[in-house]
Amino acid sequence: MKIGIIGSGYVGLVTGACFAHLGHQVLCVDNDVKKIEMLKRGKSPIYEPGLESMLKENIRRKRLSFATKVDRATRQCEILFICVNTPPKMNGEADLSFVENVSREIARNLKDYRLIVEKSTVPVQTGEWIHKTIKQIQASESLFDVASNPEFLREGSAIHDFLNPDRVILGVSNARAEKILRKLYAPLKANLVVTDLKSAEIIKHASNSFLATKISFINAVARVCDATGADINNVALGMGLDPRIGPSFLNAGIGFGGFCFPKDLSAFLRMSERLGVRFDMLKEALTINDEQKKYFIQKIENTIWNLTDKTLAVLGLSFKPNTDDIRYAPAIDIIRELQHEKVKIRAYDPEAMTRAKQELRDVKFCRNAYETVRNADALLLMTEWDEFVDLDYKRIKKLMRHPVLFDGRNALNPAEMRKIGFKYCGIGRG
Ligand SMILES: NC(=O)c1ccc[n+]([C@@H]2O[C@H](COP(=O)([O-])OP(=O)(O)OC[C@H]3O[C@@H](n4cnc5c(N)ncnc54)[C@H](O)[C@@H]3O)[C@@H](O)[C@H]2O)c1
Repeated sequence: MKIGIIGSGYVGLVTGACFAHLGHQVLCVDNDVKKIEMLKRGKSPIYEPGLESMLKENIRRKRLSFATKVDRATRQCEILFICVNTPPKMNGEADLSFVENVSREIARNLKDYRLIVEKSTVPVQTGEWIHKTIKQIQASESLFDVASNPEFLREGSAIHDFLNPDRVILGVSNARAEKILRKLYAPLKANLVVTDLKSAEIIKHASNSFLATKISFINAVARVCDATGADINNVALGMGLDPRIGPSFLNAGIGFGGFCFPKDLSAFLRMSERLGVRFDMLKEALTINDEQKKYFIQKIENTIWNLTDKTLAVLGLSFKPNTDDIRYAPAIDIIRELQHEKVKIRAYDPEAMTRAKQELRDVKFCRNAYETVRNADALLLMTEWDEFVDLDYKRIKKLMRHPVLFDGRNALNPAEMRKIGFKYCGIGRG
């Protein structure tokens, strides 16, 4: 099949590379000319394990190409996936102007039947808007269908997730669209959930909101543990063994971030309000998440007293391991907040340094973890990259001015760290 991907970011590129890997002809479009130039040279503009080699392989096999204009994809491809960004507006609603622009461009170039699939995360009823917008420009409804196929990949394991999905959601309005999407996804042998468009849209927002709420729940429980001397890891273990609860997303820490959870939770909340549905639980999940960063800073102050002129070593800038994505990363917010208190920051991340350098000012970026901790008054572990868990902490201790360790991800063993001589502070670990 000929597939057009519009928006070649984290989701679009992985989707395009994986469909090419499955043998389809894929054209990835992006209006960022620099990005497309890089991609044409076989270079990935983002860090995602396995992506660059998959891109190179499929370019070599002539199954994957790149363009800057949507009209080329509309002319050449039977299926068009909209994978553009849907960032939050100031009021928390999703900004759908990118989706609208793409819909208009598709409509203007529509000559033969095309299936237009929203893969970007969008609020319920966006599919109806896309349909209405295209119809206004291109009156013939027989020339197109709109479908919803939300994406559940996780950055850091995106290729594996795409090729081995828990489920594939197909939101369709007729048998024609369903048939095409069933055929496209058949090689993955996935659980298909075929539903109407609006339900598909809600599935994505409700799933992300639920997961984010689960994280806020365990973070609130962690504060109760801190207040009483209990250990959140044992509490989470005891809770998670109940199959009705499950162990995942019960890791207490400095809160959720990334391009999905904060914005999807806000967008779902705003959409519910707009529909007249009170959903304050989502509001509280957001509030707990914001407070969690302040809670971490408070812990630092309670332990090292004044922040002014202290040197803090930050390990981890990306919002989670195995990605270079720093969008809404708790580490970035916490660093900014600490800088207001005149803290000197030294920082290192295995993959996110280039992006972080564009966002942060007055940070001393270091070449590795050991250089970062030199003469630091405390170490803040903000992202649980494997390489940080495997560091030689005896050496780290020797390099620091004061051996104080704030484990923002509960990634280290408190007893081991204390034995080495650190003052160890986790989240909810008594
Ligand atoms: N990143 C994730 O882990 C993830 C997972 C599931 C769903 N999503 C959703 O997928 C969507 C995309 O997310 P992302 O992380 O890939 O974003 P991204 O910012 O990495 O990529 C979006 C791309 O779209 C391009 N674009 C914008 N307008 C365009 C236009 N008119 N024509 C061509 N290209 C255009 C941008 O230049 C950018 O490269 C969002 O709705 C997001 O919520 C993201």
